[in-house]
Amino acid sequence: MKKIRLFPSLKEVSYHDGESVLSCLEKNGYALPSNCRAGACGECKIKIREGVIDQGFILDMALSQSDRDQGYALMCMAKVKSDLLEIEWADAEARPKLFPPVENALYMLTEKISLTKKIQKIRLRALGTPLRFWPGQYIQLGSVEKKIPYKSYSIANIPNQDGEIILYISRNNEGVTSKWIHDELNIGEKIKIHGAYGTFIGDPSAETPVLCLAQGSGLAPITSLAMAALLRGGFRNPATILFSAKTNEDLFEKGIFSFLESKFRNFRFRVTLTREQNPGLLVGRIPMILPSLYPNLSNYSLYIAGSPEFVADCVASCKKLGARDQCIHTEGFYNQDRVNGTI
Ligand code: FES
Repeated sequence: MKKIRLFPSLKEVSYHDGESVLSCLEKNGYALPSNCRAGACGECKIKIREGVIDQGFILDMALSQSDRDQGYALMCMAKVKSDLLEIEWADAEARPKLFPPVENALYMLTEKISLTKKIQKIRLRALGTPLRFWPGQYIQLGSVEKKIPYKSYSIANIPNQDGEIILYISRNNEGVTSKWIHDELNIGEKIKIHGAYGTFIGDPSAETPVLCLAQGSGLAPITSLAMAALLRGGFRNPATILFSAKTNEDLFEKGIFSFLESKFRNFRFRVTLTREQNPGLLVGRIPMILPSLYPNLSNYSLYIAGSPEFVADCVASCKKLGARDQCIHTEGFYNQDRVNGTI
């Protein structure tokens, strides 16, 4: 049996032919970073110390030639070819902390609501054993029978007894999966989902003020993280979500944030519009308005979710304002249709 060994902890897991290094480690509970799961974002880049892999098809932008020369590889698409693969990941104390993901968990679509012109909210109910997930993680949704590629969507709710999963689906006119969900998937239909995946899981016990920055459906993992942390008594210090929308019509789920603001005096939901003005709301892109709102972010924990460009601009702006690398957590929503989806 082939093995994957983590360095420096020297923990080992058994590898089964055909699975990716990422899937194999996730099955064993190890929380490697990941995002697109398709060789497009570079999030799962890890250095190989020993052994041989088949890297599979990946985008050059996700792994440069210089990365390859230094021994890095993308774990989401890597298959192990030698008896032992040793990779550099985590520290000497590395231990499993994720729920092992499940494939083909059976769910039913029980609700579908248009939140904006582009975003639909869908609610899924487990027909079998519900997936276990941490707030901030994502699942994959598609259909083998209908040849709809599986794509990643962040979970917008917190774990509950009914095993419900709420997703905000942004319509991408270039992609098959989001159009299928918007136009063809009907209430009452059974679907199979994979998950949960991802390491955008936050630290509800953080003893620092928390600032969450979100754009579009990036509000999904941010809502899940914030709700979980507030309801469990985390975020004892001030916690703010700053949400960026183009116009007033692009705002959604205002009710839940009004509720959280009333229930938790340390929580604030603020909106900035980038294409119009509205009394009571901020105006301008988040990276532009941050310096006047938060001149010093050196003692903040930051959670940022949205398009890769939005995330990169916000990270740069936060760093200029003193934010520390280890306190910045990000989830970029890559265009998964740039690469072939896995069916
Ligand atoms: S490249 Fe591996 S998760 Fe995106």
